[in-house]
Amino acid sequence: MTDDTRIPVKPEIAEGTWVDAARFQAMTEEAARDPDGFWRKEAQRIAWMTPPTRIKNTSFEGDVSIKWFEDGVLNASVSCLDRHLETRGDQVALIWEGDDPNSDAKITYRDLHARVCRLANAMKALGVKKGDRVTLYLPMIIESAVAMLACARIGAVHSVVFGGFSPDSLASRLVDCESTLLITADEGRRGGRRVALKTNADEALKSAPGVKNVIVVKNTGGEVPMQEGRDLWYHEATEAAPRDCEPEPMGAEDPLFILYTSGSTGKPKGVLHTTGGYMVWASYTHQYVFDYREGEVYWCTADVGWVTGHSYIVYGPLANGATSLMFEGVPNYPDNSRFWQVVDKHKVNIFYTAPTAIRALMRDGDAPVKKTSRQSLRILGTVGEPINPEAWLWYYRVVGEERCPIVDTWWQTETGGHVITPLPGATVLKPGSATLPLPGVQAGLVDGEGKLLEGEAEGNLVILDSWPGQMRTVYKDHERFIQTYFATFPGKYFSGDGARRDADGYYWITGRVDDVLNVSGHRMGTAEIESALVAHPKVAEAAVVGMPHDIKGQGIYAYVTLNAGEEPTDALKKELVAWVRREIGPIASPDAIQWAPGLPKTRSGKIMRRILRKIAANETDSLGDTSTLADPTVVEELIENRVG
Ligand code: WT7
Repeated sequence: MTDDTRIPVKPEIAEGTWVDAARFQAMTEEAARDPDGFWRKEAQRIAWMTPPTRIKNTSFEGDVSIKWFEDGVLNASVSCLDRHLETRGDQVALIWEGDDPNSDAKITYRDLHARVCRLANAMKALGVKKGDRVTLYLPMIIESAVAMLACARIGAVHSVVFGGFSPDSLASRLVDCESTLLITADEGRRGGRRVALKTNADEALKSAPGVKNVIVVKNTGGEVPMQEGRDLWYHEATEAAPRDCEPEPMGAEDPLFILYTSGSTGKPKGVLHTTGGYMVWASYTHQYVFDYREGEVYWCTADVGWVTGHSYIVYGPLANGATSLMFEGVPNYPDNSRFWQVVDKHKVNIFYTAPTAIRALMRDGDAPVKKTSRQSLRILGTVGEPINPEAWLWYYRVVGEERCPIVDTWWQTETGGHVITPLPGATVLKPGSATLPLPGVQAGLVDGEGKLLEGEAEGNLVILDSWPGQMRTVYKDHERFIQTYFATFPGKYFSGDGARRDADGYYWITGRVDDVLNVSGHRMGTAEIESALVAHPKVAEAAVVGMPHDIKGQGIYAYVTLNAGEEPTDALKKELVAWVRREIGPIASPDAIQWAPGLPKTRSGKIMRRILRKIAANETDSLGDTSTLADPTVVEELIENRVG
């Protein structure tokens, strides 16, 4: 496989597409030349109570201030619900496919509107008002979308915490944003197993005293304790509530949601998105990147706990009046043909998933795919991590039968939606490349000194000017926002990713250049895992790095130094893995633990991670310069006892 493979735009896709090659060119030019004019028009795609007259007011310098459509007034739930009632009230808004293949449900726009209003009224009755923070800790059920939209309805700021996170992780997120209400469920279901959400929530609430109420969805019917005066059943709270709720008028720059994400240092930070710009971006990208057409069934396999679920299960598709499928389960339950069975069952036209899932399914061969029809599929997409060309081609040939273009969408929690991606009717594809920036995105590469690179180049991926979907700040910590994204290369947004740009201007994302790992498309800070490990009473020091992993993309490799006198046993390794799962969640489980009597440090005491990464990757013949090490013998010892 080389960079030379090119897959031209299919005539059948170009026909009737929203954006063909000529339009793409024209949009790119217009958005760069006249951002105000371009975005004034695009802003009309969502419903405004007062349309904006001021469009772009942004600066990446100094205190960094990002405002879009700032004098506009709107409510996100109106764009997703009310305005569809007249034209598509009886159209299915959400298809829910349960973990159990015999359970599913279809919810029309009218139903969804009523459910959202009921919950919004129930929250109001508990005293929740505009600007209050509400945390959602839910499985992949319809109520997740209802709860997000109900928060938006009353102007409350939602913070969705992935159901796989531990009580500790939930607690720190509840405390950081000072949530007063938590919405959870008795239990979740995944791959035939139950997830103890309410039990975890109860544990978390011991250290989050600011939470006054808990609304609990009866999902599995599993026995859970309810605390008198604090906990309410969702069905009881909503049953009695009126089915109409006036939408709260929100300024375009009023917050819509907070979503915690990991960085290279410290605790996860609360990425804050506001209402107007985010909604425009979610709708714009969902329509053009998936070439979404009226009446199509669209399926994004992500969890609502991640930004992908926010922008591409809920806000983008519903703003565009789409039918969006929400899946509770996993790709290999009851068997590894499940994705394709669901595609056939619901006649899915557009399918969006993660490279890690594609690689895992590819390993099981073509048969589980080929026994299904998949004739409904028109567009395929990937997100979350670089996709290797082998997996891309398997997806293209076996799943899509060379009929469906693949959109490899590069973006981040911070960007709100897609930023570098092909458009199905406009872009010649190259397997493994996220291709070109969207119209309205000024991407660039800089070297280590921040010098902008021209033409073919490899460097740090930056964005030179603001786009409407950009995060506005780190919740309650604007200084951290500036430091994290604008201090490395002043005046530019730094993504934390490296990339190469080829002669055609196509971007090839090479992965994170900071201390952030991407494990199965889940983002994790090495510092977070290290602090979980050192919190164990027997651990003196820990250093965590990524290692290449066939399925997960990256695995977690931990070097652990024990306190003097502690025995380095296999039982203790197991205990540490369980410990990290409990502290953060199963997604942070180390894949390998190596006992390290010492860690390679510079004379000033800084751990040389570059060397640890090389050892974990078994690339010990290219360790590079080790002359600045305080004690070079440490490295030999680590190489000798490498795990794996
Ligand atoms: C990081 C962002 C974007 C929503 C899901 C993850 C990596 C994401 C791609 C892609 C190569 C990708 C980057 C990015 N990433 N999409 N198509 N090709 N890398 O959001 O948790 O904020 O993670 O995921 O490294 O920085 P996130």
